[in-house]
Amino acid sequence: MLLKSEIAVAKNTVSYSPNVVFFCPEESQFYAQCIEKMVLNQCFEQEEVIEFGAGEGSPVISSLLKSQFSGTIHGYELNPVSSKLAQERISQYNLNNRYQIHNQCFFEGFRKSQATYLIANPPYLPALDNDICMPALHGGIDGAGITMQLLSMGCENVLLMISAYSNPIETIEHALNQGYQVVDFMITPLQFGYYSSEPKVRQRIEELKKQGKAFYSENVYFLAGVLFKKQSLYNVDLSPELLKVMKAL
Ligand SMILES: C[S@@+](CC[C@H](N)C(=O)[O-])C[C@H]1O[C@@H](n2cnc3c(N)ncnc32)[C@H](O)[C@@H]1O
Repeated sequence: MLLKSEIAVAKNTVSYSPNVVFFCPEESQFYAQCIEKMVLNQCFEQEEVIEFGAGEGSPVISSLLKSQFSGTIHGYELNPVSSKLAQERISQYNLNNRYQIHNQCFFEGFRKSQATYLIANPPYLPALDNDICMPALHGGIDGAGITMQLLSMGCENVLLMISAYSNPIETIEHALNQGYQVVDFMITPLQFGYYSSEPKVRQRIEELKKQGKAFYSENVYFLAGVLFKKQSLYNVDLSPELLKVMKAL
């Protein structure tokens, strides 16, 4: 069930074409739940969080509205329309000192030394090139390109949405090679939607399945919110359990 604040935060996005502003409320709400549980509720007060691809801002805004976190989140978003929408909503909710939007490529603005957490629902659509309905959602030929780049930036804690059809096995292997452990995760089933049903993308997903790099059923795929840590106090790595669930379909 959606809270009133979540409905209000999501409301105006529908008036934009999904080819201009990313629009997938089920996915964005799941990302918001992951941020709240695995990041904001675990942070000490003044920590800095950095976000790749803020979109129209609703996931971070709804998670901030439900948490006690009083540090700052810096959201980077390439798309000027999404950035403007995000900025308007932040002002509407009086969150200007807690969530700052930078209309800029994340990789140009990233300041590693200050951020203890990197969060993202990154582009993960696989396709042979980025000539798809929303090029900014292209995640490379196996969908995992940007995810792996984010796991190579050295941030101590990283929360990422990882799709079971975007080469999850090599993604997790890459994370382990970078010195991360999987310390927590949440998983939700999602139906193939507007972006993943585009024929060029769907065909690529089918090719990846034949190569053992995509897992899904006729109706759904799993999306995981995964918290990676460089130094876990508990020295526990949940990657075998995560992959077992991701490969279940
Ligand atoms: C899957 S959407 C997620 C949006 C939002 N976080 C959400 O979950 O609703 C990915 C977002 O990343 C943005 N993006 C893609 N490449 C980027 C880059 N290099 N720097 C910053 N943002 C980028 C896209 O424009 C898009 O808004």
